[in-house]
Amino acid sequence: MSYCSSDIKRVLYTEQELDAKVSELAQIITDEYVDKRPIIVCILKGSVVFYAQLCKRIDCDMQMDFMVASSYLSGMESMGAVNIKKDLENDIAGRHVILVEDIIDSGNTLFKLKNLLNTRNPASVKIVTLLNKHDRREANIEADYCGFDIPNEFVVGYGLDYDEKYRNLPYVGVLKSEVYS
Ligand code: IMP
Ligand code: MG
Repeated sequence: MSYCSSDIKRVLYTEQELDAKVSELAQIITDEYVDKRPIIVCILKGSVVFYAQLCKRIDCDMQMDFMVASSYLSGMESMGAVNIKKDLENDIAGRHVILVEDIIDSGNTLFKLKNLLNTRNPASVKIVTLLNKHDRREANIEADYCGFDIPNEFVVGYGLDYDEKYRNLPYVGVLKSEVYS
């Protein structure tokens, strides 16, 4: 039980289930990147818990980097712009990049972000996401590595928020609709 249990409809994945899945993903990434010295990018803030768990378990030489990005809404969206509030510190030319996402929903932000990074001539850009809402996809983008496919429900915890709340919950839970309606 936690401080806001009464806001949670049901637990989707426990901390143990999440950590086990993260270890599986880390092993796959380790095998694939062992000689590649990847730059592993945390897309703040939602990915921070997943990112920390994942990086601890990736057993190869790597660099950490951090980004804050958001999609422009309304009029700007048609221009395909992505608003970078904090950019990478590394030059990614010739490097293998792994983008770490908490959840892919419409995919719009990540689609634009990946296109932007590809203009910097990296050796490769791959995506790892903890959660995937496939039914909600609008952009033509898929994760290369995915933890769990989830139904179209609003989830919080393990880094995911509603209005900046619930990020520190150790599990992923479905938020009661009363909380946001
Ligand atoms: P999209 O894929 O561009 O639509 O945006 C994905 C972002 O929306 C994620 O990185 C989250 O920040 C947020 N998001 C989407 N679905 C959820 C959810 O169920 N809970 C919390 N945040 C979500
Ligand atoms: Mg996010």
